[in-house]
Amino acid sequence: MTTILVLHGPNLNLLGMREPEVYGNLTLDEINERLVGLGQKLNIEVRCMQSNHEGGLIDGLHEARAWAQAVILNAGGYTHTSVSLRDAISAIGIPVVEVHLSNVHAREEFRHTSLISAVCKGQVVGFGWRSYTLALRGLAEFLEEK
Ligand code: DQA
Repeated sequence: MTTILVLHGPNLNLLGMREPEVYGNLTLDEINERLVGLGQKLNIEVRCMQSNHEGGLIDGLHEARAWAQAVILNAGGYTHTSVSLRDAISAIGIPVVEVHLSNVHAREEFRHTSLISAVCKGQVVGFGWRSYTLALRGLAEFLEEK
């Protein structure tokens, strides 16, 4: 069975109460439940993880190499700053899809730069929690074709 890691970065544990006008009203648990449910329909096992720490995200990516066929990653603010996260994505050699709830390109200029985009399979931004489900559907089709 195909297994996908959904990896959430810093501050995403606060979803639901964190700037709901930007990030929506769903909590992280509610988003994860929807992803697991969609995974069941697509015959994909979805495992979710969150860390507020750069090293925790890097460890999650390294470990995923052993059991996941792909990763959906919302790296939060580390998207814009972390060379080490980019290096980890390059190193693991499995497809990683970058997601953001908000449209980062329509926000402050420092959010327009992503250090990870170039080493990701693709990017889904701006659809709120649906950025994750769209990424999962896209990966399901991509992995099936492979
Ligand atoms: C975010 C966008 C980032 O710029 C921000 O730092 C986040 C959330 C998003 O999902 O829209 O923490 O990744």
